[in-house]
Order: sequence, then structure tokens, then C-alpha cells
Amino acid sequence: MFSANFEHTENEFEPILSSETIKYHYGKHHAGYANMLNSLIQNTPFQTMTLEEIIVSSRGKNPKVFNNASQLFNHDFYWKCISGTKTQPHGKLAELINSKFGDFDDFRQQYIGYANTMFGSGWSWLILENNELKFLNTSNAENPLGTQAIPLCVIDLWEHAYYIDYRNARADYIKNVVMNSINWKFCELQMERD
Ligand SMILES: [Fe+2]
Repeated sequence: MFSANFEHTENEFEPILSSETIKYHYGKHHAGYANMLNSLIQNTPFQTMTLEEIIVSSRGKNPKVFNNASQLFNHDFYWKCISGTKTQPHGKLAELINSKFGDFDDFRQQYIGYANTMFGSGWSWLILENNELKFLNTSNAENPLGTQAIPLCVIDLWEHAYYIDYRNARADYIKNVVMNSINWKFCELQMERD
């Protein structure tokens, strides 16, 4: 049985994300994907697989299972990427940021700009591919699992992520999250999977 992972309190991200947003985003949307996935995979070969295995083996073949499994992974990952306090990258991540983007501020401006190019529902990722940092926007439930890319960070760009707090001002949500609420320590730890 899969469950939606959320290791925070509901008001931890205020004022960037309200407790009302978390109540719906985690409590309804994220939890809903876990419940739906559990019911879809009951008595199927997916039942004995890891979440990552389900995503890779259902991609392009079983859209219902793929969408719910990927949305479960993406949300688990998103909540780990978000922090209630401001943090800064260190170590290898900081080195790669500085060598490719000049400095942390330029990097954040480029991430914000790239995320803003996303049309419709989806996710804006920071990935590590061939030891290089890249941005990647994916539509709907898609993610980089099963490719060479290692996901380091993600921002949820579905309307349910920001509409309660920001209404149609998606750009303000993106800016607030990137500037104030990324858990860069978590992102750095993902690089060890390289
Ligand atoms: Fe979401």
C-alpha cells in the first residue's frame, strides 16, 4: 500500500503557502493520487513493484496507473524540496551552480524564468544530467524517472498548488517558492545518486 508522504505541519510554509493550500493540496490532491493508485494496482503485477518501477513500466502503456503513480512520486518529491525556512546550496551543488550560472542569484532568476515558460499543468524540475545542471518542464504527471536525468528539485505548477493563495498570479508563486522556500540541502543530497 502506498501513502502520500508529507513530513511537515500544515502551517509550516506560511506566508508563502497557506495552511489552507496545504490542507487541500496534500490532504485532497496528493492523498487522492495514493488512494487511487492503491485501488488501481490491487491484484495486478504492479502490486509487488516499487513506485519508481510502476512509473517506468506503466509509461505509455497504462495511463491511469502512470498518472496516479507519477503524481504520487512528484508530490512526495515536491514536499521534500520545500522548506519553511530559507536555505542556501552548499558543496557540489553550489559549485555546479556557480560554474554554470555565475552565482546563486543568477541561477534563481533563470530557474524562475524557465518555470514561467511552462504552459498548462505540470512540473518545473532542476535535474542533473551528465554532471550538468539543467531545467526541465514536464506536462501533467510526467517526470524524469527512467531517464539519465537525476531530479534534484521540483516546483508544482498545477493550479491547485497556488490558486488559493495567489489566484492567477502564478509568477508570484514561482518567485516566492524559488527565492524563499527551496530545501537546497535535500536537492544536494539527491546528487549522491549520481
Ligand atoms: Fe500538486
